[in-house]
Amino acid sequence: MAYRRRILTDPHPILRKVAKKVTALELRMPLTQQLIDDMLETMYAAPGIGLAAPQVGVSKRIFVADVADEEGQRKPYVFVNPVITELQGEETATEGCLSLPGILGDVTRAQSCVVTGWDRHGRKVRVEASGLLARCFQHEADHLDGILITDKATNIREAVAVTSDSAGARSAPTDVSI
Ligand code: NI
Repeated sequence: MAYRRRILTDPHPILRKVAKKVTALELRMPLTQQLIDDMLETMYAAPGIGLAAPQVGVSKRIFVADVADEEGQRKPYVFVNPVITELQGEETATEGCLSLPGILGDVTRAQSCVVTGWDRHGRKVRVEASGLLARCFQHEADHLDGILITDKATNIREAVAVTSDSAGARSAPTDVSI
């Protein structure tokens, strides 16, 4: 079973700590495996496309992500002790964060990157990402270092609520909560 956990919001001090590395032994513990299941459940329920362990009050270097591709296919990623390398290009886009509800900002990040680390079973993984997936990975890695988008965003503003027009059609939100 997976359970929704409470998402901490700024200014909770755990969000500002540099999270600790996870040991191989620790990763095998049921407590850690439950945390990962719960993080995925909490991310989907939010809804968000990424979630880092400090956001649910655990200062460990773990994040999860799931960004739909062009065909709408979703694939959950779990990274333990992730390291972001091979940052290339630059792109500015609007981001939101589950720990900063109602806030949006424009953040410049690398257009592509590589994440290396472990999967949830401690196997070495290496994932190349570009676009929104790369943005999501960089955002989550920042969470593990205690960095929030308000530290690096420009044009920080309140999100405007989704409105309905007279025909009842909803305008799609263009921002993403990571
Ligand atoms: Ni976030």
